[in-house]
Amino acid sequence: MSKKNVLFIVGSLRKESFNSTVAKYVEEVLEKDADVEYLDYSKLPYLNQDSEFPTPEEVLKVREKVSSADGIWIFSPEYNFQIPGALKNLLDWLSRPLKPFAFQDPTAISNKKITISGAAGSSKAEGVRKQLSELLKFIRAEVVYGEGTGIELSGEAFQTNKLVLSDENKSELQKQSKEFLEKLN
Ligand SMILES: Cc1cc2nc3c(=O)[nH]c(=O)nc-3n(C[C@H](O)[C@H](O)[C@H](O)COP(=O)(O)O)c2cc1C
Repeated sequence: MSKKNVLFIVGSLRKESFNSTVAKYVEEVLEKDADVEYLDYSKLPYLNQDSEFPTPEEVLKVREKVSSADGIWIFSPEYNFQIPGALKNLLDWLSRPLKPFAFQDPTAISNKKITISGAAGSSKAEGVRKQLSELLKFIRAEVVYGEGTGIELSGEAFQTNKLVLSDENKSELQKQSKEFLEKLN
């Protein structure tokens, strides 16, 4: 089996994001079977239909990364039980037609295999994972492993700004990785 290209999208822009810690762990798990790249969408403009065409350069760049990936893993915090704004803006751009009014044509994200996980407080990111799963299906992506893995951040993680994954977290992420890779093959 050839190595797959997996694109990681972290829903938090902060440098020491707990969700990036989760992503780094999954990167190690996938290492043998996949080349992982992190999507930089920090410079993406806000979606404004007045400036959709010609497509802004930053939008072309992220669409190219998404189109060429065999699969995508989204790691997201939840903001007020919802999808963080920057991530929602990215997904809105990815949902749009590549040419004016070409609504029936494939987009950068349609049919893409995507799996989800989220680290948050006691909700285990339940709100954002559910919303992401619904939104991704709506924009014609293929969601793998349902609402994905939820990770609860402990008080200690918040105090030390360091997330230590439990054995249970790790084994769930390993299970998810296995099912995700199977879908990509
Ligand atoms: C605007 C905002 C809203 C938040 N809302 C929630 C929430 O609804 N549920 C929750 O568990 N944590 C919430 N948090 C706390 C985040 O879980 C916490 O900041 C976490 O560290 C963010 O993930 P990150 O470390 O990957 O950036 C919120 C944080 C922010 C900044």
